[in-house]
Order: sequence, then structure tokens, then C-alpha cells
Amino acid sequence: MIKKGIILSGGKGTRMSPLTKAVNKQLLPIYDKPLIFYSLSVLMLAKIKDILIIVNKGELSQYKKILPNGKNLGIKIKYIEQNSPKGLPDAFKLGKKFIGKDNVSLILGDNFFYGKYLSKKLLDCVKLNKGAKVLLHKVSNPERYGVAKIKKNKITSIKEKPKKFVSNLAITGLYFFDNKVIKYSKKLTPSKRNELEITDLLIKYQKENQLYADYIGKGFTWLDSGSIKDFYKTNNFVSAIEKKKKFKIACIEEIALLNKWINRKNIINSIKFYGNCEYSSYLKKLIYK
Ligand code: DAU
Repeated sequence: MIKKGIILSGGKGTRMSPLTKAVNKQLLPIYDKPLIFYSLSVLMLAKIKDILIIVNKGELSQYKKILPNGKNLGIKIKYIEQNSPKGLPDAFKLGKKFIGKDNVSLILGDNFFYGKYLSKKLLDCVKLNKGAKVLLHKVSNPERYGVAKIKKNKITSIKEKPKKFVSNLAITGLYFFDNKVIKYSKKLTPSKRNELEITDLLIKYQKENQLYADYIGKGFTWLDSGSIKDFYKTNNFVSAIEKKKKFKIACIEEIALLNKWINRKNIINSIKFYGNCEYSSYLKKLIYK
């Protein structure tokens, strides 16, 4: 069972410069809330309450302004600063103490997931006791992602940003690991681009026959908001859904309320915290029906 989650929310954000020169990418708006709300909401939908957010050195105070400690959401949020972007598996080295003897999930702060049965899928993923699990999604530009080749429902090979076609199944930025992830991460060496690669970590599990895959299939949306174009694709998607369906994606207070982690009083606190805005009006509707 996985009860802890890490959000990797640092990175240089070079692909989105100059937008990211003064503000970290995950604090930029996706329609009506910061990008990090979306990855946080995914962990909360998976009923994960113990959360570590990894941020760039020097950016902690900005994050704490919007997500102080999780208390008002009924969750625990801790922070660690990363000195420089050493690669995704660095999360498990930095988070060693936080993880302790438990299993852990990792979500990239710029990944967006949406779909009708998303909660059900997530609740199934966190049941993992042994090995590692990834979620795959068919894409038209596999050269941009880590990809997995599948034969008879088993992952036969994994490659990070392949120059030549290997598979059109991208490995999305949400991963589930057993506690061996700490040991395996320590053994990794930097790749040619001088980063520890998540794909090398997954290969370690694959070699032990302990890597499992599920799909973000039809009816689901997965977006990596790492480039300007994709960032606006996510923005347009959220604004279209929210305007059409009259509900908010990734309203973290609403998820906490539905999970019964908080009560009306906490929502009132949040309304005071955010001030007079459209987001607060939505929160009001949750408690004054
Ligand atoms: O989005 C899925 C893809 O994410 C996977 O398919 C790839 O296998 C995986 O390597 C990753 O690729 P990206 O090129 O999108 O990773 P990026 O360097 O953009 O980092 C993803 C997020 O993690 C981003 O929000 C910044 C943050 N980050 C990244 C690194 C390398 C950190 O906080 N620290 C880091 O050291």
C-alpha cells in the first residue's frame, strides 16, 4: 500500500523562459489555479495524505505562500530544496528520510491527468506492495518522452526520449514504487545529458521482473505542460471543461472535503485565505448549498 507521495516541483524551466525566469513553472497559472494544484490533487485523489514537495533552492518561501503545510487540507506537506536539477530519481535520494521504510509515489509537478475513472485507477495503483508501476499513454510525439515497448502485456524495453522510433507509448509522470527505490536510486549514474534518468531506475525493476504497467486509455487526458505550447494546451483544456461543466478540476479543498479530511470550518478558512475571488465563490457553493 502506498500512503506517501512526492511532487517534483523544481527544474530550470528553460523551455518556458522568459516566463520562468522569476517564477517557478509549477506556480504559473493553469486557468484559475497554479499548476502544482493539479499534481497535488492527483495524490489527494489517490488518498495520499503524506506529501513531500521538492522545490528549487531559494524558491521555498514562494511555495509556502500558497501551500503552507497542508493543515487546512487535512494533509501533511513537507518541503525539501534541490540544489540543482540532477534528474528525477534525485527525488528518492533527497526524500530518503521522508520515505523511511515505506513505499512511495512520485508525480512530476508539470503533469496533468484528467478522466472519469481517474480516482478508481489511482486507488488501484496505490495498492502496490512490491515492485514498481507506471502509467502508459499513446502519443504522437514519443521522441519527447520516456517510452515503453510492450509485448504480451509485459514491458520489454524502455528508452528515454528515443531518436529512432521504439514505441508510441509514453511513460507518464506518475510512478509508484516499493521501498527498493531508495537503494536503486543510489546506484544510478548520470546519463549523457548529465542527469539521473527515471528510465534507468525503471530498467532496474524491469530486470528483476518487477515492473508493472497500466494505461491512461480512452476517455482520459494526460498532458505534460513542460513547453509553452503544451502549457497553453492544458490551460485551454481546463478552461473549456470548467466553463462547460461548471465544476473545477483540481480544487484541492473540494477533494479534501469529499475525502472527509476537512470540514466546513476549514473551507471558511480557505475562503478567507484566498480572498474575494472566483475560486472562493466556488468554495462557498460547496458549503452553502
Ligand atoms: O512527463 C513525462 C516525462 O517526464 C517522462 O516520459 C520522461 O521519462 C521523464 O524523464 C520526464 O521527462 P521531461 O523531459 O518532461 O522531464 P523534465 O526535465 O521536464 O522534468 C519534469 C518535471 O520535474 C519538471 O516539472 C521539473 C521537475 N524536475 C526535473 C528535474 C530533472 C525537478 O524538480 N528536478 C529535477 O532534477
